[in-house]
Amino acid sequence: MKILVTGTAGFIGSHLAHRLLDRGDEVIGVDNVNDYYDVNLKEARLKRLTDKAGFTEVRQDVADRAAMEALFAEHKPERVVHLAAQAGVRYSIENPHAYVDANLVGFMNILEGCRHNKVEHLVYASSSSVYGANETMPFSVHDNVDHPLSLYAASKKANELMAHTYSHLYNLPTTGLRFFTVYGPWGRPDMALFIFTKKILAGEPIDVFNHGHHRRDFTYIDDIVEGVIRTLDHVAEPNDQWSGATPDPGTSKAPYRLYNIGSNNPVELSRFIEIIEERVGKKAEKNLLPLQPGDVPATYANVDDLIDDVGYKPATPVEEGIARFVDWYRDFYNV
Ligand SMILES: NC(=O)c1ccc[n+]([C@@H]2O[C@H](COP(=O)([O-])OP(=O)(O)OC[C@H]3O[C@@H](n4cnc5c(N)ncnc54)[C@H](O)[C@@H]3O)[C@@H](O)[C@H]2O)c1
Repeated sequence: MKILVTGTAGFIGSHLAHRLLDRGDEVIGVDNVNDYYDVNLKEARLKRLTDKAGFTEVRQDVADRAAMEALFAEHKPERVVHLAAQAGVRYSIENPHAYVDANLVGFMNILEGCRHNKVEHLVYASSSSVYGANETMPFSVHDNVDHPLSLYAASKKANELMAHTYSHLYNLPTTGLRFFTVYGPWGRPDMALFIFTKKILAGEPIDVFNHGHHRRDFTYIDDIVEGVIRTLDHVAEPNDQWSGATPDPGTSKAPYRLYNIGSNNPVELSRFIEIIEERVGKKAEKNLLPLQPGDVPATYANVDDLIDDVGYKPATPVEEGIARFVDWYRDFYNV
């Protein structure tokens, strides 16, 4: 298949592109390689992809309407996986406009491209952060998510709503994936595992928010990629049982689906740090701090729909995933 993947210089997009290329798909990879974090890491991820047959790199902004129209017209992708976005909860407190450009305008351009070019299936990244103030655990796609706590979360929820209108109006099959704290080799420098590993190795203190008591459903990158591929191959269908009298938020009369992709096994931040310390072989010096604005105390994914529809449940133990990250980090940065 010819698949347009956005965000291919990014953490999840680069891993996904490798898997798609390895199984023989053609990948058109779009990324503007912005400097939200270390551009050298993005270039290194891309370099491994451009060395592979079947990969076409397109360096452009998904918010650039004319460029995106031209891209769809030229390449005519059969399916689209849209991962490019301004990520990060904390950054959205300081830089709200970045989220409107990349996550709302960019998403609009993807929807229009899919609509006008008869794309068979659009799969896009949502986030566990859409659960916001919800406290019923584990989080289910059938729960309402009307109380986001950051503009990042609101932009992801907005994507789900925008997708629904295109599924309804143009019969465009769309699948939104709510990823839960993704970690692993080639991971993001703005996320906890990267920051902690770097600082512990350098003998510097680490900031531990919520006194280490948050619980996160940390999900290993290969498990995320497996979930993306399984759902990409399973084109969203209408739910014939859906009723407007008792509207189910996770499905629709239109070909619209949502899935959580999470490990279904929350781990406390303090335990997560202990596992890093064990693998690095050094104790962390910790600054214990309160919960940050926009952060939620716990995440926990209900993955029943993923199991029922595509027969998959993430399974990598956090000890194994952290070990693979730490080994990658030490090798890549030579420390
Ligand atoms: N990593 C996680 O824990 C996590 C959790 C939930 C959701 N997500 C979502 O998954 C997706 C991928 O996340 P990631 O962790 O790989 O992040 P990432 O920042 O590593 O990757 C995103 C990529 O998109 C590119 N990009 C950003 N804005 C762009 C624009 N306007 N035009 C073109 N390219 C642009 C960036 O350069 C980057 O390479 C994002 O949509 C993110 O919100 C990630």
